[in-house]
Amino acid sequence: MACSRFEYVKSFEQGDDVLQNVWIVIRLDGKGFHKFSKVHDFDKPNDANALNLMNIAAVAVMEEFRDIILAYGQSDEYSFVFRKETNVFNRRASKLLSYVTSLFTSSYVYNWMHCMSKKTLLYPPCFDGRIVLYPSDQNLRDYLSWRQADVHINNLYNTAFWNLVLKSGLTNQEAETELRGTFSADKNELLFTKFGINYNNLPAMFRKGTILLRKRVKIENSLNRQLIVDLHNDMIRDKFWKDHTELLGKYKPGDYVCELENISTVLKHQIDKLNTNEKQENIECCS
Ligand code: GTP
Ligand code: MG
Repeated sequence: MACSRFEYVKSFEQGDDVLQNVWIVIRLDGKGFHKFSKVHDFDKPNDANALNLMNIAAVAVMEEFRDIILAYGQSDEYSFVFRKETNVFNRRASKLLSYVTSLFTSSYVYNWMHCMSKKTLLYPPCFDGRIVLYPSDQNLRDYLSWRQADVHINNLYNTAFWNLVLKSGLTNQEAETELRGTFSADKNELLFTKFGINYNNLPAMFRKGTILLRKRVKIENSLNRQLIVDLHNDMIRDKFWKDHTELLGKYKPGDYVCELENISTVLKHQIDKLNTNEKQENIECCS
């Protein structure tokens, strides 16, 4: 770049490298999604298509940033965990945060039609983002446990609330009054006795959120390659960390075996994209 007398202004830019050897977590959250979900008529309390759109946007972020070892999403938020040793963008906080936030947002819009087929996107959604650093593995586990406990509390409440409104005809105010001061056990009981709903049988994606991990995916004899899988397990328990030892150990994606009929929307989206790319390459090769 040519030098000019104006170049001194560059020295006003401040360095913002994050500490070495700490977990870097970036959490995004939809702005005003209370209104956004209403305007776009999301199913209540959970819209599976809208949640999978979030998941697919998060997969796009993980495909771009190979140092993200885990992402966790629920409602209108997503957390991305970069491995401690990452040197992406020389660990510059503003670069990391702005790239992740903008790629997630553009991917959300880009995939809207695909996931929400019959609905028109009526205005551009946006997401805020923050970076938080966690020095120990326990801190990281506690962070993810905190976000997962949040889903449980909110989802149990929302499920009870919307059943009272949509099935019992209560106003929002009446439903709120009915649930005020209740404990989890009361809400479980209410769902079961009034609506015949066993909360534990509701889709795990609604109850636990979505965990995205890199795995070598094996699907019968048709596929064996590294992809991003979506799980809806309990991260609060030790079992999750024992089942996925690569996360806190020497990082090397583990195996994930899946049957063709059990492929999730998130995996199907990646496999369809691979097939389209391969077809495109064949066409280019032949032409
Ligand atoms: P800010 O984040 O502060 O801008 O507010 P917000 O309106 O986005 O609310 P917040 O992030 O606290 O919560 C997300 C909101 O999104 C929920 O309260 C719901 O209203 C809405 N939402 C998220 N996922 C769904 C869904 O699957 N279905 C429906 N119906 N609403 C959802
Ligand atoms: Mg929000």
